Amino acid sequence: MYYSEEIIEEVLSRNDLVDVVSEYIRLKKQGSSYFGLCPFHNEDTPSFSVSPDKQMYYCFGCQAGGNVFTFIMQMENYSFAETVKYLADRANITLPQPEYSAEVKKALKEKEILRNIHKETAKYFYYNLQSERGKVALEYLQGRKVEEKIRKLFGLGYANADYDDLYKYLLYKGYDEEFIAKSGLVIPRKTGKGYIDRFRNRVMFPIFDVHNNIIGFGGRVLDDSLPKYMNSPETQLFDKSRNLYGLNYARTARENNILIVEGYMDVISLYQAGFKNVVASLGTAFTYQHAALLKRYTNEVVLVYDNDAAGIKAALRAIPILSSAGLKIKVLQIPGEKDPDDFIKEKGPEAFRDLIMKALSSVMFQVNVVKAKYNLENLEEKIQFTKEVANILAKLNSSIEIEVYSEQIAEETGVSKQSILEEIKKLRAIRQKENRKINKSSFSTNESENNLKSSSQQKADEKDGLYKAQLNLLRLISQNETIYQKIKDYLSFSEFIDPVLSKAAKLIYESYGEGRSIEAAKIINHFENLQEQNQVATIFNEEKSSVKEYDVEKAINDQIKLIKRANIDLKSRATTDIYEIQALIEQKKQLEKLYINIISG
Ligand code: UTP
Ligand code: MN
Repeated sequence: MYYSEEIIEEVLSRNDLVDVVSEYIRLKKQGSSYFGLCPFHNEDTPSFSVSPDKQMYYCFGCQAGGNVFTFIMQMENYSFAETVKYLADRANITLPQPEYSAEVKKALKEKEILRNIHKETAKYFYYNLQSERGKVALEYLQGRKVEEKIRKLFGLGYANADYDDLYKYLLYKGYDEEFIAKSGLVIPRKTGKGYIDRFRNRVMFPIFDVHNNIIGFGGRVLDDSLPKYMNSPETQLFDKSRNLYGLNYARTARENNILIVEGYMDVISLYQAGFKNVVASLGTAFTYQHAALLKRYTNEVVLVYDNDAAGIKAALRAIPILSSAGLKIKVLQIPGEKDPDDFIKEKGPEAFRDLIMKALSSVMFQVNVVKAKYNLENLEEKIQFTKEVANILAKLNSSIEIEVYSEQIAEETGVSKQSILEEIKKLRAIRQKENRKINKSSFSTNESENNLKSSSQQKADEKDGLYKAQLNLLRLISQNETIYQKIKDYLSFSEFIDPVLSKAAKLIYESYGEGRSIEAAKIINHFENLQEQNQVATIFNEEKSSVKEYDVEKAINDQIKLIKRANIDLKSRATTDIYEIQALIEQKKQLEKLYINIISG
């Protein structure tokens, strides 16, 4: 979404921040500012300030800050485009049709065509299912006890058995062969020209994104033949690592958690039984993007996995990913050799609700998996068990958690709590040593923090540190042109590694380069999707920091070095050329000598 600078300017100037904020909280004038209770965190004494002159807000309690756009984005959970529309309406401004760059226009047009193709296809499949040709499929679904209401809600359908039935239908509907091919719903013939349908004689499950657009399909055979399920390939619409089946319904279920299951039928079956807060990853392993997506709608997930080796493995793999997004995780194992769909049909919703209540914390689940490997009657095995358990607990951040879990494990296994804690202490000492080694070659040391962390956790922290460095630096640059002038020759915008921050850096550098000041709304305006807009908004969501000038200078130098070092590391990982590697090592050495004077020189 792209609006002209003039429009953004007008929306900004016709929505006074004090007025807008006053619609949400009561403000009282104090000196030249207004104060009230912060809407972004719980407090009893007002620390949320609004400056009518600067048209900025800042909370001294939680550091939330920004302008009227970021306020509405945060308050209403709107995207930037939605915010522009909301504020324009509020000020009786008629928005022109948004402007797009030629490139964006083309991509949007293509996406729109692909969405139409998917919608048309889903309608066709749905129609087939009710028709004579789809009788087998309808009977199959009835055999699996899927009610008509649910069939409709999930848009279930049937792909006819003919080899090019859908392909012909889409051509007849007037779609270009080029786009039909791009939809992934057909595959090129092995010999000669033309296409055949990807899905034939299957029950079809449309896959929706969170806005209820159909972006792909899964198709199941009607018998025991293989492959059991086929799925749409990745297309311009369909990114498997960023979408979850059922999330369009789960996100509005208003439960305090979201259930994660393995299959399409599990989602449908649980939904039918009244559990609307259920999603499935689409025949792929869980990704960080999935975890981040879920975090937008909930704080707790319940992993519901089949009680077999594959299910347990999948759960163990998903736990660290979900946990890195800050989600609280429980694990529910379906008893017996059943999946959730079988279970609910056999035992009913109440029994399933009971399982949810009894779901284990992810820590206890991991401990149980380890426990199953060992015979605790045997001394050797008991020692081994204790070591592995200590390894799991040592990854926890809170010593209270460690204490509580050690106690519980001691009770359940007869291994003494003391020996578990002793093991954790040993692990801690080893890690401290390792960290010292690592830290010798890297420039940031924070041993007390690193003590309890595994090396994978440490890698994640480094990434996180790198991200924070980029974000903080951009914040400082955007707040203070002097800083930009001082560092621009040392760090180019292309050195920002995060793609979104890099694009934001480019826009910020360009604004200064053209002698303009930085306006949050205008920068955010250049980003098309909601996630990116919110990410960019975080650059502007903080008021000037109160650190002393000297500290700022040091922080900037540290951050620049961290970013430049990461760039060098990336390059050296990508090359095998010995001369280039030598050059990079030299660059790294030079980098240590770099110091930019920001205050004086
Ligand atoms: P399951 O084999 O557990 O199937 O696969 P299911 O969901 O219980 O299926 P029903 O009950 O027999 O109909 C779990 C999920 O893994 C993906 C699908 O998303 C499926 O729902 N899958 C499975 C595939 O993508 N391809 C396959 O061949 C099998
Ligand atoms: Mn099943």
